[in-house]
Amino acid sequence: MIPALSASPTAPAPIDRDRSFPAGQMPRLLAVANQKGGVGKTTTAVNLATALAAVGKRVLLVDLDPQGNASTGLGVKRSDIRKSAYDLLFEEGLNAAELAVATKVPGLYVVPSSMHLAGAEIELVTAKRREYRLREALRRPLPFDYVITDCPPSLSLVTLNALVAVDAIVVPLQCEFYALEGLSHLVKTIDRVRQHFNPKLDIHGVLLTMYDPRNRLSGAVADDVREYFGEKVYQTVIPRNVRLSEAPSYGLPAIVYDMKCPGAQAYIRLAGEIIRREKKLQSDLATLQNDSRAQNQDKKVSV
Ligand SMILES: Nc1ncnc2c1ncn2[C@@H]1O[C@H](COP(=O)(O)OP(=O)(O)OP(=O)(O)O)[C@@H](O)[C@H]1O
Ligand SMILES: [Mg+2]
Repeated sequence: MIPALSASPTAPAPIDRDRSFPAGQMPRLLAVANQKGGVGKTTTAVNLATALAAVGKRVLLVDLDPQGNASTGLGVKRSDIRKSAYDLLFEEGLNAAELAVATKVPGLYVVPSSMHLAGAEIELVTAKRREYRLREALRRPLPFDYVITDCPPSLSLVTLNALVAVDAIVVPLQCEFYALEGLSHLVKTIDRVRQHFNPKLDIHGVLLTMYDPRNRLSGAVADDVREYFGEKVYQTVIPRNVRLSEAPSYGLPAIVYDMKCPGAQAYIRLAGEIIRREKKLQSDLATLQNDSRAQNQDKKVSV
């Protein structure tokens, strides 16, 4: 049993800043996005966040979807919500850590959604720096290692705010016939965001979800996706597993509800794969920086 998974019985509470949070570090920012509905974004955001918290990372999940499935799936009651992701978008200078609500999973916090987010789309149209509002709230030292945003099923201004804010996107793709449909639209949007707002935005990885080994179509779709996206596709595949869909009705991540079920195990493997990709990225970056330093020194010597 992973010790961090012994869910604490305490009711969600505002973040306790005196506890153990070293202030002043830049978290890694990831968005779980795909404008297609019902592909497993929320299930991925909730269980990935839980699996990262379980290995000792401090994680904040930002629920940007007015449906609020990530918030309820983590046991946050609508009546307990005072400030939400809506306020993060519209109240200038607000610190995400101040809105963070503790979940039953130690180390995992959530900025919950609210119904107000449904109107955010219209309000954003005339807002100042409308694409950068989430970026300005999240790109600052925060007491978290990871901030994961769960996006709504649209390429709206709210989703755009997430893409402008984050370092990288996790794209869940359901293993079904229409999996790749609409994906070119997402890829074009990512290119546009890179060009105009966030040049370093990366696709962290493409995640195959609801994979059914008995269904030949699932395998065929997985092959197609791997051919199209190559190494960007995570090795880990999330199986279709009823325990993943039962867990939210208990207000628990599947990893806490039934850690042994195949779905939970897959999300634990995914977290491991993501952490390994992050380490490789950091070491590649360090090599790049060393190379460019060495090149600069060579230039100085030759002058
Ligand atoms: N691997 C899985 N196996 C079985 N059911 C799953 C799996 N992943 C997700 N589900 C179920 O499928 C439905 C859609 O999943 P989820 O809510 O995570 O998708 P979503 O992309 O966030 O949807 P939306 O676009 O509406 O936000 C939910 O009922 C969820 O419990
Ligand atoms: Mg969702």
